Amino acid sequence: MKRFLLTLFVLTAAFCAAAQVNEMKLDVRRPGAEIASTMYGIFIEDINFAADGGLYAELIKNRSFEFPNNRLQGWSVSGRLEVREDGPFGRNPHYVRLCWPGHDQKHTVMENDGYFGIGLKKGEQYRFSVWARVPENIGAGKLRVELIDRDSMSEVQAHASAEILVDSPEWKKYEVVLTSGLTDPEATLRLFLASPVTVDVEHVSLFPVDTWMGHENGLRKDLAQALYDLDPGLFRFPGGCIVEGTDLDTRYNWKNSVGPVENRPLNENRWQHTFTHRFFPDYFQSYGLGFYEYFLLAEEIGAEPLPVVSCGLACQFQNNTMDAHQPVDELDCYIQDALDLIDFANGGTETEWGRLRAEMGHPEPFGLKYIAIGNEQWGPEYPERLEPFVKAVRKAYPEILIVGSSGPNSEGEQFDYLWPEMKRLGADLVDEHFYRPEKWFLSQGARYDSYDRKGPAVFAGEYACHGEGRKWNHFGASLLEAAFMTTIERNADIVRMATYAPLFAHVEGWQWRPDQIWFDNLRSFRSCSWHVQRLYTRYKGTHTLKLTDMEGVNVTGAEGQNGLFASSVYDAANGRIYVKIINVSDDAQPVSLTFDGLKKKETLKGVETVSYHSDDIYAENTLDEPERIVPVTSSFDFEGRVMDVTVSPKTFMVYVLQK
Ligand code: AHR
Repeated sequence: MKRFLLTLFVLTAAFCAAAQVNEMKLDVRRPGAEIASTMYGIFIEDINFAADGGLYAELIKNRSFEFPNNRLQGWSVSGRLEVREDGPFGRNPHYVRLCWPGHDQKHTVMENDGYFGIGLKKGEQYRFSVWARVPENIGAGKLRVELIDRDSMSEVQAHASAEILVDSPEWKKYEVVLTSGLTDPEATLRLFLASPVTVDVEHVSLFPVDTWMGHENGLRKDLAQALYDLDPGLFRFPGGCIVEGTDLDTRYNWKNSVGPVENRPLNENRWQHTFTHRFFPDYFQSYGLGFYEYFLLAEEIGAEPLPVVSCGLACQFQNNTMDAHQPVDELDCYIQDALDLIDFANGGTETEWGRLRAEMGHPEPFGLKYIAIGNEQWGPEYPERLEPFVKAVRKAYPEILIVGSSGPNSEGEQFDYLWPEMKRLGADLVDEHFYRPEKWFLSQGARYDSYDRKGPAVFAGEYACHGEGRKWNHFGASLLEAAFMTTIERNADIVRMATYAPLFAHVEGWQWRPDQIWFDNLRSFRSCSWHVQRLYTRYKGTHTLKLTDMEGVNVTGAEGQNGLFASSVYDAANGRIYVKIINVSDDAQPVSLTFDGLKKKETLKGVETVSYHSDDIYAENTLDEPERIVPVTSSFDFEGRVMDVTVSPKTFMVYVLQK
């Protein structure tokens, strides 16, 4: 009897331990809504030294001597020199006069450490350029430029050097290409006055020759490559709060970001001021990566541009009085800026701004389709400003789709007020922002399932899982982003765009994390969140497919669904079906997926599976281990009408199938 009871107990225990099978069904017969080509995109804002000091490949900080607190900030100087302000570039008037120190054994020299040092690679070429003149017109002057390793123990610190003969009393651009003798993430540029003749220097610049697509004034290749590899369909720029500015004077003024780089005026970067706990008093915007470079990059990576313009509201987090903002009846120049930006992107070469675009090298229009008016705005002060913009854009460019804001929160009073307002004003899309903890992401698997289908479409414009007490790019956060993205995918009829944020961060210069791509001066790595985004772009498909549990309920991590989130799409380009299942639970979950809608005797065959998993959910990719946690693709030996699989705990699975 005892033995019998024991056997019964063991059997019962085994039965209870065997996890319940999660039965689901997928209607493979009727593809649903079309998935917008813009669905998964990127958003770049110059936060965390993302642009200056990051993607923008300029290696010299304060190249035009315009940093306002100290015109020589970022430079160390010795000898006889002075900063003057009647230079050749009206909007960047300062330059440096290098004078002979009066003794053969003394030197006039200036050095620049770039952004956290200058990153150089052995054997790579770097283009040094400087605008210069000999003001006294008493013969040619000489400059010697060196790339140095200040910490070097060898006899000479310089591992590359060249001389430049400045032979004109008129301002001229001089260029020389240096080949670095060392790999050095923190090198210094040294510039000697090398003859007893006064030389004026302005816009001192150093770029790798090998930039993205080989453009001069170009972009850092590895970082642009990470964007290209993501295959984004949308590219939002330039902010974020940077659009608004700490005050209106320092809002992003796109017109200052185009034309010759030497004459693009410096702007404050609002991220210099925002956080005193990670404070970077030397963070400015050179506008070197401006709107031309942005449109060009968007084209090169195949993403639709989505520019954001100021609606006349300075950052509302930083200003709580109305006099910080542009009065509603004085918005004309802001509205004109928006219209002119569309002209810059799309106008014929006979228009003012279209002509400038052509002069900059792109006579063909960029084919802009969208514009966002305002960033993360709220309160009645927003709709009342948005309204005249909408009227003006509709009148001049009825084909352009307008993106409005739902404020800084994913729900709540402002959100509830703004959505109907956006509908009233006829915005085409509404931008939602949510930087939220794990429990929020876990609760949002059905977020868009019941959204109003008659209103504007959704742009999930800024989002990331900010782990509670764990605000970094760990795998667990990315897993919850993957889970959340099932509601985006499932509701592709209403969600047309989504962009994780922020995009980039310098490991020494960040203000905000998590971020999608991290870098130092020479290296970069793609976070787990990047890999999740990539799985969604790689298996984007063209149309939704209905995937539910057996009761017809969406699989959204709801009670009784055992921590599973799921969605599926069809890809008309190759006839494949992509099933995404995310198991956020601690247990392996058996799943039995029945394919509805197959003809008699028809089956689906497995093509491949992709598994994204980490045993340690708080682990992350790093500069030293950039590929610690990457998706693993395997062949998928399956054929049938019911797919029985087990999804490991804390795993994002993609199953690729075809008829
Ligand atoms: O992405 C960082 C900031 O978050 C953005 O600038 C702003 O829109 C949001 O508050």
